[in-house]
Amino acid sequence: MPTFTQFPISRQGLQDIALFFIAGMAIFGALAAWRRYRGGDVRRPLISVGVLGALVVVAYALAFTVAPNIPTPPVPFTARFQSNPVSDTPENIDRGRQVFQAHCAICHGSRALGDGAQAFLLNPRPFNLQLHVPQHATGEIFYWIRNGVVGTAMPSWKDAKNADGTPALTEDDTWKIVRFLDALAAKRIEQ
Ligand code: HEC
Repeated sequence: MPTFTQFPISRQGLQDIALFFIAGMAIFGALAAWRRYRGGDVRRPLISVGVLGALVVVAYALAFTVAPNIPTPPVPFTARFQSNPVSDTPENIDRGRQVFQAHCAICHGSRALGDGAQAFLLNPRPFNLQLHVPQHATGEIFYWIRNGVVGTAMPSWKDAKNADGTPALTEDDTWKIVRFLDALAAKRIEQ
């Protein structure tokens, strides 16, 4: 079996982290300027600027070498604010689980941990949706399922058809999958 290990933070994630360090440098830099103006000791804030600067260099070096390039798929501004029109009932969650097992588990794993049979052949690998789903707006999750994730194996389900020409995944079932993922991530249902 091919084994494939991947750096755990994406290039885009590291770039975001670097921005935090840069903001920190600005704050300590301002503090040093203020202390200097007051005639105080500027060594400590300047050391902080230096350490943060080194971390920025490391973050960018990792970002453009070992880190996988996973462009955050753009989501239209309004999609983010969509709320789930199907109610949070055991029936809907069960239906979501069924459809997820049928279409998604092959890559995402039956518990959405990113450990489906095909996952190990993909680059980037599917993330752990139990961690990722709570980090995004419901509307974003729905949008990615409908439209796929560019630059990854995640297909668009909007126009996917069964062999007989019927839609493989209706909008309604997509929202039920989202209910299932929410419940799974919140550990409200059997794993
Ligand atoms: C061929 C493999 C494959 C199949 C089938 C698949 N996915 Fe994905 N999916 C991926 C990969 C690869 C990614 C990109 C990495 C990531 O974001 O987890 C992804 C991303 C996602 C994301 C975005 C997660 C995030 O936070 O970035 C969601 C949500 C998702 N998939 C749900 C589903 C659902 C629901 C189905 C079934 C209807 C499905 N996927 C079917 C491979 C697949």
